Amino acid sequence: MEFTYQSVRNHFVERFNAEPMLIRSPGRINLIGEHTDYNDGLVMPAAIDKEIIFAVAPSYNHTSKIFALSFNEIFEVDVQNPQPVSDPPWANYLLGIVRQLVDLGHTLKPFTCVFGGNIPPGSGLSSSAALECGFAFALCELNAVQLSRTEIAKIGQWSEHNFVGVRCGIMDQFANMMGKENHLIQLDCQSLEYQYLPIDLSAYSIVLFNSGVKHSLASTEYNTRRAECEEGVQILKELDPSIKTLRDVSLNLLDNNRSVFSDLVFNRCKYIVEEIARVQRASVDLLQGDLQSFGKRMYETHDGLSKLYKVSCDELDYLVSLVRNNPEILGARMMGGGFGGCTVNLIKNRAVKSTIEQVSSAYRKQFNIDIESYVVHIANGTSLISS
Ligand code: GLA
Repeated sequence: MEFTYQSVRNHFVERFNAEPMLIRSPGRINLIGEHTDYNDGLVMPAAIDKEIIFAVAPSYNHTSKIFALSFNEIFEVDVQNPQPVSDPPWANYLLGIVRQLVDLGHTLKPFTCVFGGNIPPGSGLSSSAALECGFAFALCELNAVQLSRTEIAKIGQWSEHNFVGVRCGIMDQFANMMGKENHLIQLDCQSLEYQYLPIDLSAYSIVLFNSGVKHSLASTEYNTRRAECEEGVQILKELDPSIKTLRDVSLNLLDNNRSVFSDLVFNRCKYIVEEIARVQRASVDLLQGDLQSFGKRMYETHDGLSKLYKVSCDELDYLVSLVRNNPEILGARMMGGGFGGCTVNLIKNRAVKSTIEQVSSAYRKQFNIDIESYVVHIANGTSLISS
């Protein structure tokens, strides 16, 4: 079920009998640079016009409560000493934020909160970063806590590592806080330096096909990939002690020392090193306005994720194969952590409708799943709607 500003506000007023502050917190896409963030590499995400809305206000009865509209569940938070819980799982994303703000020395007033939105969970659009960062932003507004957008992104990542248990990189939280309309963010995850790259989408649309698949192994496999990359770095350090992450590694170094790696670790490292270089080339494509070349690199990324990094699945591979030879589609690939979720497609405007029809019908035949598709627009990062 989807919730709008108005419905989130109305639920809040009915439940808590007060006028709330409203905050919007967007999902994200990533055009290129997948699984590179936790390897100190480059990424190219953007915030989108799918979002979670938070309604918040101080509470005057000493208890803090959060109501999740999509789960129809309420949860009471101990703002002095928040701890992870086994149920409901969604509370952990938010409890970690409270924990981190308290540990940073901020005193939080009791509060009431209602949230809901239209980011489909498990679709790889990072509803988790939207939850974390939107909530952190809301608590900062409510308590007059002055933190930079990058600091809020880091608090979100901390919560995901420590309260949710996924050792994610910084891309999702950064895109959520730093997104800018009509621009991709080229982020260097080593230095956190970034650049806004304008993307001219007057003739093209960004279309997401939601495979509808949510493999439960996604978060375990995510941490495993991260560990495999770290194993590669340990081996490479013996060859060159100055190497700290895969960002410091060239393809030549890898190829010349092929025999010291297992096939598995070699393939993981090869994908990451190639992908970091690919983002650099894709950024030149964008600056030159060459979306054709940019699109080809998206297909290359998909192949690397599928064959070397092994985070794709049959459904995602099929969705990419359906559009691959269609000249109206510049590029397509699986997006996000993998094992389900969406593919991102760069499609000529005139072909959007027909492509959606073709993909939907083929996918239904193949997997008996009614696919959801979203034409998304690049939006600003988390912001206050009304105070
Ligand atoms: C998830 C993580 C990100 C990033 C992507 C893969 O979305 O949260 O940090 O690693 O997967 O690129």
